[in-house]
Amino acid sequence: MAVLLPRIVSNSKAPSFLVTALILFLLTEPLSQAAQSDVDCLRAIKDTLDPLNKLASLWNFNNSTEGYICKFTGVECWHENENKVLNIRLPDIGLKGEFPQAISGCSSMTGLDLSSNNINGTIPTNISKLLPFVTSLDLSSNELSGEIPVDLANCSFLNILRLDNNQLTGQIPPQIGLLNRIKTFSVTNNRLSGPVPQFINASVPVENYANNIGLCAKPLPPCIGPPKKTHTAAIVGAAVGGLTFAALGVGIGMYFFLHKVSRRKREEDPLGNKWARIIKGTKRIKLSMFESTVSKMSLNDLMKATNDFSKENIIGTGRTGTTYKALLEDGTSLMVKRLQDTQHSEKEFTSEMSTLGKVKHRNLVPLLGFCVAKKERFLVYKLMPNGTLYDKLHSLNEGDKIMDWPLRLKIGIKSAKGFAWLHHSCNPRIIHRNVSSKCILLDSDFEPKISDFGLARLMNPVDTHLSTFVNGEFGDYGYVAPEYARTLVATPKGDVYSFGVVLLELVTGAKPTFVKKAPESFKGNLVEWVTQLTAESKLHDAIDEFLVGKGYDGEVFQFLKVACNCVGPAHKERPTMFEVYQLLRAIGQRYDFTTEDDLLVLSDEGSNRADHVELIVARDRA
Ligand SMILES: *[C@@H]1O[C@H](CO)[C@@H](O)[C@H](O)[C@H]1NC(C)=O
Ligand SMILES: *[C@@H]1O[C@H](CO)[C@@H](O)[C@H](O)[C@H]1NC(C)=O
Ligand SMILES: *[C@@H]1O[C@H](CO)[C@@H](O)[C@H](O)[C@H]1NC(C)=O
Ligand SMILES: *[C@@H]1O[C@H](CO)[C@@H](O)[C@H](O)[C@H]1NC(C)=O
Ligand SMILES: *[C@@H]1O[C@H](CO)[C@@H](O)[C@H](O)[C@H]1NC(C)=O
Ligand SMILES: *[C@@H]1O[C@H](CO)[C@@H](O)[C@H](O)[C@H]1NC(C)=O
Repeated sequence: MAVLLPRIVSNSKAPSFLVTALILFLLTEPLSQAAQSDVDCLRAIKDTLDPLNKLASLWNFNNSTEGYICKFTGVECWHENENKVLNIRLPDIGLKGEFPQAISGCSSMTGLDLSSNNINGTIPTNISKLLPFVTSLDLSSNELSGEIPVDLANCSFLNILRLDNNQLTGQIPPQIGLLNRIKTFSVTNNRLSGPVPQFINASVPVENYANNIGLCAKPLPPCIGPPKKTHTAAIVGAAVGGLTFAALGVGIGMYFFLHKVSRRKREEDPLGNKWARIIKGTKRIKLSMFESTVSKMSLNDLMKATNDFSKENIIGTGRTGTTYKALLEDGTSLMVKRLQDTQHSEKEFTSEMSTLGKVKHRNLVPLLGFCVAKKERFLVYKLMPNGTLYDKLHSLNEGDKIMDWPLRLKIGIKSAKGFAWLHHSCNPRIIHRNVSSKCILLDSDFEPKISDFGLARLMNPVDTHLSTFVNGEFGDYGYVAPEYARTLVATPKGDVYSFGVVLLELVTGAKPTFVKKAPESFKGNLVEWVTQLTAESKLHDAIDEFLVGKGYDGEVFQFLKVACNCVGPAHKERPTMFEVYQLLRAIGQRYDFTTEDDLLVLSDEGSNRADHVELIVARDRA
């Protein structure tokens, strides 16, 4: 994948490894170019595949409104106000001609359905370059001929691959079997022969291979014909089998090894900061600071300020690392995050940091600086004195005040604003991937600030897609959108789901994984509980009793409805983060939560959309 990723940002200045499907496309200057390539891609489809002019009346390119192509029949965008194609579905409309190379212009497309048309010629041999992020590809019932290109095996996000009812010949490349996300594969009614791929993570029913001229190997009868082909199958089969065994063995070995190591570590390292003693020799290293307001610091200052990163100073531990409170000699308090095992080189890390250092918004925790010492990487943030939203909701100490409704509403609105900015306005765009009430911190005025944005990328060496997702680490338990189990691809709508769970926590007061109020027999999580109440028309019961009957009931219920929309099972039906922000803001209209740095720009193109706010341009005041 690493090879493919740079394409999506070829016209950007950001470092390519920062950008995957997680961090989407670049805005500002490249906006028009990036959007233009998607427009060109559609134009090419119309010009090269539509001799019957079926699209002429449906796709009118005489328009300059950003997002106009999103209204085209068969086109779905990432966001309706942005010319960035997510899916193209044009089944059975009489398209004719060869598979267009220009489709690569739709560089962020994940779904392509051109089934039941008359597309002829061959499947391009560089298809993975044309559709690097495709998860669903349906070219069935066309007139495609030639061989299935090996390069299809490089479309590593494929879930669905339909090539049935064409005139494809030759052997199916065995490498296709290595696509570990494939759920549906079909080549019925072609002229294929030889062994079928042995999928490492899917079982393809026999009928999906029917009506070819000589397919064999499991689940079909064994191959007997030309020994060469049989061998390939056997070798691939054996290799896959061997790998599985080897992986299992290594896995079991690692488990015991790590257990032993961690036990030993605990015994020898009661303060949990042995690693910090190792970097002591590097104390003179200077911190790179983004803000001139913070005085120059060295690692030595940080070590002093955190008492050599002692356990006592830990204020949070999460998947991205451990956070320490640091108290400087001049009285300033900071948060220092020690990143978990990042494997980027110092150069890559520094370059990512310089990008992240520029990502600034009132509702994000400001990143002040960073530092590299041997294998350790530290991020320095402003301290948020009121801790995490999770603790303020679920771990109150004796005597702590329960948050009242206006405060909860404000936290909901302002964190939505921060996330909407990350998804829709920031450059590069960022999918957080780890949204939870623990990543929303509260400053001294209880203004929410999002932390950990942009860090998911730092956790893995080459490409977080595969490693992170296969480990099932796709956010905190109770917050993970259901489609992730299927697609394993991070999307903005996955963040919307997780944020919906945060909104549910705010309005129900319940924890994401455990609902105290639910009957004891209920074993599900917060979302499942709310879903069940909805089905029983008892949604009102979900509301935190503390909020009921205090003059806010209407607002509270509306807020709950928004939260429910965010956690809907169908990701397409969830609102975008921007819409969530708009909906919540409307609920909170009577309070004056706006701040002077919110400059809301109204769409000035097309009077019919004048009521539709298009961009949040939030200025950095720092
Ligand atoms: C688009 O505009 C051009 C000239 O500006 C015109 O020739 C063409 O007919 C228009 N097409 C449609 C579909 O309106
Ligand atoms: C351009 O597209 C937008 C969005 O589909 C539509 O509202 C508007 O009427 C179109 N303008 C023209 C000139 O066709
Ligand atoms: C595909 O069909 C078009 C006519 O629709 C024809 O001109 C072209 O030669 C065909 N291409 C191939 C590779 O068969
Ligand atoms: C794919 O290959 C064709 C030639 O077969 C070439 O013209 C095109 O530029 C290639 N596209 C990409 C994105 O590599
Ligand atoms: C995937 O792409 C890489 C680099 O472009 C290439 O070396 C490799 O052979 C491809 N793998 C398959 C299975 O096509
Ligand atoms: C196979 O797919 C399941 C989900 O369908 C997933 O949990 C598992 O990790 C996958 N295994 C591999 C080896 O990719």
